[in-house]
Amino acid sequence: MSSKKTIDKEVTFEDAGVLNRPIISKTDLKGIITYVNTPFCKLAGYSKDELIGKPHNIIRHPDMPKAAFKELWETIEKNEKWRGFVKNLRKDGKYYWVEAFIEPVFDENGNKVGYISARRPVSKEDRKRYEEIYKEMKRKESE
Ligand SMILES: Cc1cc2nc3c(=O)[nH]c(=O)nc-3n(C[C@H](O)[C@H](O)[C@H](O)COP(=O)(O)O)c2cc1C
Repeated sequence: MSSKKTIDKEVTFEDAGVLNRPIISKTDLKGIITYVNTPFCKLAGYSKDELIGKPHNIIRHPDMPKAAFKELWETIEKNEKWRGFVKNLRKDGKYYWVEAFIEPVFDENGNKVGYISARRPVSKEDRKRYEEIYKEMKRKESE
């Protein structure tokens, strides 16, 4: 929640040494993390052990509006793919922006078992656009 400390400093993919690396996490149907790869951990500043078994909102940044995640969950619960822009909170309180792609995972019987997500760096234009969009959404949410 927003009680976690935040530091108004960005960490880029380059800073974290994960430029051109896949940034992958998987969750169960409720958003509990079941898998993270090493580049994900480097970018978020957590170890694998600290992330596996935790809700994915462990990296939720307080600047992100609730409505953005509501739309995310409505989309993936309908078995559709979601693409969006997310400002995430690192363990050290700094932030990083990602363009995220999330989709459902099915087992061999066609049962949905969870979700997988991949991320890439955000372009300067999208970053600027979404900072404004989310600021406005947050403002509306606090009215
Ligand atoms: C596969 C997957 C990846 C997710 N990745 C992120 C993420 O990088 N950052 C984030 O804040 N929420 C992510 N979420 C959404 C969280 O589950 C959660 O909805 C969000 O952090 C908001 O927290 P809240 O639902 O407790 O309000 C992801 C969800 C799924 C299913």
